[in-house]
Amino acid sequence: MARPRFLVGAWAALLLVSLAHGIGVNWGSITSHPLKASLVVQMLKDNGINKVKLFDADSRTVSALAGTTIEVMLGIPNDQLAKMADDYESARDWVKENVTKNSNVKIRYVAVGNEPFLTSYNGSNLETTLPALKNIQKALNDAGHGDIKATVPHNADVYESPSNKPSDGNFRSDIKSIMKDMIQYQHEQKSPFLVNIYPFLSLHGNSHFPFDFAFCDNNGGSITDEGTEYANVFDANYDTLLWALKKAGYSEMKVVVGEVGWPTDGDKNANVKLAKRFYDGFLKKMASNEGTPQRPGQIEVYLFSLLDEDMKSIAPGMFERHWGIFRYDGQPKFPMDFTAKGQDKMPVGAKGVEYQTKQWCVVDPNKAHDKDAVGANMNYACSRADCTSLVYESSCNNLDYLGNISYAFNMYFQTNDQDIETCGFNGMAKVVTHNASQGSCLFPIMIVSGGVRLRSGFVSAVSSLIIGLMFLITSSQSM
Ligand SMILES: *[C@@H]1O[C@H](CO)[C@@H](O)[C@H](O)[C@H]1NC(C)=O
Ligand SMILES: *[C@@H]1O[C@H](CO)[C@@H](O)[C@H](O)[C@H]1NC(C)=O
Ligand SMILES: *[C@@H]1O[C@H](CO)[C@@H](O)[C@H](O)[C@H]1NC(C)=O
Ligand SMILES: *[C@@H]1O[C@H](CO)[C@@H](O)[C@H](O)[C@H]1NC(C)=O
Repeated sequence: MARPRFLVGAWAALLLVSLAHGIGVNWGSITSHPLKASLVVQMLKDNGINKVKLFDADSRTVSALAGTTIEVMLGIPNDQLAKMADDYESARDWVKENVTKNSNVKIRYVAVGNEPFLTSYNGSNLETTLPALKNIQKALNDAGHGDIKATVPHNADVYESPSNKPSDGNFRSDIKSIMKDMIQYQHEQKSPFLVNIYPFLSLHGNSHFPFDFAFCDNNGGSITDEGTEYANVFDANYDTLLWALKKAGYSEMKVVVGEVGWPTDGDKNANVKLAKRFYDGFLKKMASNEGTPQRPGQIEVYLFSLLDEDMKSIAPGMFERHWGIFRYDGQPKFPMDFTAKGQDKMPVGAKGVEYQTKQWCVVDPNKAHDKDAVGANMNYACSRADCTSLVYESSCNNLDYLGNISYAFNMYFQTNDQDIETCGFNGMAKVVTHNASQGSCLFPIMIVSGGVRLRSGFVSAVSSLIIGLMFLITSSQSM
């Protein structure tokens, strides 16, 4: 009985696969209210997305992918690297529980760690990453899963080019020898090099960066490198890696792009218009299979990201919680052309999402005269809920003083499942049933959580909360 159903499914999927060829998405879950995994999987199918990259191997997520034709990359978080490195049995147990037992999940890769050599980690994963990678691959091979490849997702900061020309690319000097050993091992195992490339961050981090060069629509001017023209930073960045690999002796190494995308809020360059411009150019480029000047042909990529994540650390910037192609509730933000064949249309949103009651928590204007008390309440709310849409040039930056307070109060109230106790704020707040949204600033209604909820105390990057707090104290003092 299962067989004919599979065949029908496979046939339908095949039609869709040919549309969104080679394109996968990252599905993260650092969120206060995760969507039900089965709704997300249906959404992937409805949009013809047939590859997904996860950051762990959460059983609810993974089991929702069982029996589908979606290829899966499982993840092992950085805090597990030491354990996997020290002791082969831990790696063996991980493989047994998360790979062998999921026999009807189409697992293709295991991502060992996540950007473990990021400079901001101060070298804390340097000793453990390669041994962990080897133990996981060995455990996969020993259990008869040798077709599944273990790899390490790297941030593009593992390589650099002093002149910004790709041909000057090389691995960062402090990790050059580890990178070489790792690549050699992965090459032997036929595992691809996985790299995250962020044109948005190139633009964000450098006020002199040529704006159009961040996009792939060939309006970017160009840099010339030994006779090769580069019209966008994605190509230049990717080829910088290819040159680094070549200098390490592995010019044939397969490269997969683990993350690439554009956020839609929380920064002056993070909005729907620029995200659409980025994706339009990028998806067209992917569909053409033109590749890059150093390596023409198809590139396997995972877009970042599927959904907004309201509990992500904002240490890198307020935009961190707005990378989703879809909002927190699985609804699309802007039209996209996954096929790059002129079929620009809204992606299919999640169906059957359950929302909480249509009510909002707002400030009572008659009770908000004490500005210090208001500021303290706002800080409290924003340190425990997501207020990143309030910042400079974001979607809710046009609110007035009272609008700001209401926004913060509502986010706290919604994040706490509309618990009436969380709309108190020393009597300054009240619950209303008319839509509190103002202009382009959405005051959301939270969804009913479809999984394990993270609470603010669970967010590992406590520093991000402090940054958030400091930011709001500063801004409320200047009110
Ligand atoms: C399997 O993966 C889950 C989710 O990432 C993790 O919590 C668990 O510890 C893993 N199992 C083993 C035996 O390591
Ligand atoms: C890295 O070092 C800096 C400066 O000493 C410190 O502020 C930061 O917390 C460290 N980060 C980690 C992940 O250890
Ligand atoms: C509202 O809050 C934002 C962010 O904290 C701040 O930049 C803005 O100046 C505030 N607006 C008013 C009118 O207080
Ligand atoms: C509230 O209004 C905004 C803006 O008009 C709209 O996008 C949103 O869907 C409304 N919310 C509800 C729950 O009706």
